Amino acid sequence: MLTFFHPHELSTHIHTLKKEGKRIGFFPTMGALHVGHLSLLEACKLTCDISVCSIFVNPTQFTNPDDLANYPRSEKTDAAALEMAGCDILFIPDKQEIYALEKPMSVTFDSLIQGFEGASRPGHFEGVARIVRLLFECVQPDEAFFGLKDYQQCLVIEELVKQLDLGIILHFIPTKREADGLAMSSRNQRLNVLQRQAAPAIYQALLWAKSHVGHYPPAELEKACIAQIEKEPALRVDYFKLADAHTLEPLVSQEKTSSIIALTAVFAGEIRLIDNLLLK
Ligand code: PAF
Repeated sequence: MLTFFHPHELSTHIHTLKKEGKRIGFFPTMGALHVGHLSLLEACKLTCDISVCSIFVNPTQFTNPDDLANYPRSEKTDAAALEMAGCDILFIPDKQEIYALEKPMSVTFDSLIQGFEGASRPGHFEGVARIVRLLFECVQPDEAFFGLKDYQQCLVIEELVKQLDLGIILHFIPTKREADGLAMSSRNQRLNVLQRQAAPAIYQALLWAKSHVGHYPPAELEKACIAQIEKEPALRVDYFKLADAHTLEPLVSQEKTSSIIALTAVFAGEIRLIDNLLLK
């Protein structure tokens, strides 16, 4: 595996690979890699000749300075795991260098970022879009891979690629879960024993929503799921909402909606866990 720290060196190398006709696959990460990230690599290797992973804890997408300061960092272990899993290129850019490449961008996400993570973390998706666009410019991928755990992020990236006409094929990969259903996340490492024991209640509530969708009005279903999660004293729900899976319009009645997603964010102490499930 080759590791690059400087954007221009990576770009030159990628240029050579593209001239040789290689298909470039890319999955951006913030490190603290787990099985979920490795499933992005696996998917990438299926359709691309060269797999590129980036590790960059992007400050512009954090709205809480403590969350940024406490975000787990484990570059050495991450690099070893990527190498063992057969990743071809690792890109670890420097903050100043990568942001120095930034040019103004006129992309609007409108209603896509008004609710859910966008409402709870104002500015978050603008930060994600800024860095993903910069990373795309450095890596010039033919295909890119993102985890569906960040469902709203997937829709934002889709919109970014469409509006900037980047022509990158996007793949959204299903969420990997622990045996008890907890969605894998780098933040899980920070849970204490009690919080970790309580956390599977999030997925249990999502499953309950899936089996009861259509039986109750959305608001009642949401209320019941929030109550189920908050039966665990270690958990506090930020939001649990049903939405149209394509537009993320909150669901008022389910009459006309062909595809429904439940999205949730839950606090375990200071740690914020997100998850989602397609209900129909
Ligand atoms: O999903 C993430 O880890 C981040 O939001 C991403 C896409 C790497 C951008 O920093």
